[in-house]
Amino acid sequence: MAERFIIRGGRPLRGDVAVSGSKNAALYTLAAALLSADAVTIRNVPEIADIGEMADVCRSLGAEIEIDGTTVQVQAREFSSTAPPTDLVMALRASFLVLGPVLARAGEAACASPGGDVIGVRPLDVHLAGFRALGAEVHRSGAEWVARASKLTGARIFLDYPSVLGTVNVMFAASLAEGTTTIVNAAAEPEVEMAASMLNSMGGRITGHGTAIMKIEGVERMHGTDFTVIPDRIEAGTYLLAGIATGGDLRVTNAEPAQLDSLLTKFRELDAEVEIGEGGGVRVACPRRLRPIQVQAVPYPGFPTDLHAPMATALTQVPGVSTIHERVFDNRTLYVGELRNLGAKIITGGQTVIVEGGGRLNGANVRALDIRAGAAVMIGGLAADGETEVSGIEHLDRGYAHLAERLEAVGADVERA
Ligand code: EPU
Repeated sequence: MAERFIIRGGRPLRGDVAVSGSKNAALYTLAAALLSADAVTIRNVPEIADIGEMADVCRSLGAEIEIDGTTVQVQAREFSSTAPPTDLVMALRASFLVLGPVLARAGEAACASPGGDVIGVRPLDVHLAGFRALGAEVHRSGAEWVARASKLTGARIFLDYPSVLGTVNVMFAASLAEGTTTIVNAAAEPEVEMAASMLNSMGGRITGHGTAIMKIEGVERMHGTDFTVIPDRIEAGTYLLAGIATGGDLRVTNAEPAQLDSLLTKFRELDAEVEIGEGGGVRVACPRRLRPIQVQAVPYPGFPTDLHAPMATALTQVPGVSTIHERVFDNRTLYVGELRNLGAKIITGGQTVIVEGGGRLNGANVRALDIRAGAAVMIGGLAADGETEVSGIEHLDRGYAHLAERLEAVGADVERA
């Protein structure tokens, strides 16, 4: 039988937890390392399944990769292939990020439409339009997108939507193009900003990262680097929400408060107690009865779609009617049925989730449907009376390092069976 988490819930989470390096940002660093023939060292990489999958994608192109705990060494002296095998590509969405670097260095690249969570239609038009704007010829051949360019040339590129991976992929290609590229309506997520900082540490010349308008002066070559991944703000938010849902008192010691403005503002609207540490870190506690809130999931710096489902679980424990409106993905509410199995009073109407909170949850058998939907049912199990069995935990292993251990350290009763 596949592995499960067994949670005996109803215990408030109390104490300190430190989060890993950002899952998504770390995935971008592996692709970024393909831009250079030199050795690249990446530190603070989370010990999660997605990193192994992304490493395999890069290895299939000829990169040498060594993973030693949270340190990863990458060297892509030259490419032995410019097209990763489709079965590897299908394992995760970020695999499509190899297209930009390989196209820029080798003049051609091919990659199938990637896999990833079933959270809505996930087109690639932003990536492809960006490559075309830089002068690449892009066409579909069977399952693969094929891009070719004898030379990439900087351009002014407006993105139809500030796609996170789209911005990163186009930035990768533009960083080795001739001339200057301006990306207008770029994604401003901290993980995108970090990826640009890594390129700058490799000799790239990027400004405006972390804002909607980025400027990328192309360089002839990129050199190696020794780079440290930022802490995972989504993992941090997930633990803080588990603290709220269980009526606990939890501190994420290495959370970066400035990246959590949208979440911390919602905590204050809930009337939770929020404390920001002087040297960083965030503590949240619920000494009083909380109040219902309205949330919209939008691109950064708005409330993150990746915390929508965990927030919904927390709101099941807040008396009154709260709502969450999802504006990033069109199929991110499947977790609602799982929370209903735990006895939550929660319904969907289109892209809006309505929660009538304040009732007790009861342990049940529930499924982790994707990484964040999985986090939502874990938090549900922690808040519920009795025993909850979570299946589909391979999704949680993709995104949350040492989940059971970290929860146990703050007072949860969780075991992997
Ligand atoms: N979109 C387009 N055209 C495109 C690309 C995207 O219209 O070419 C639309 C999508 O349909 C969607 C919206 O843009 O409605 C957002 O998609 P985006 O491209 O920004 O998401 P992503 O880059 O595919 C990354 C993260 C997700 C995270 C989103 C939004 C990685 C590997 N994935 O996905 O993370 O939810 O940004 O912040 O970085 C997760 O970690 O669990 C996760 C799903």
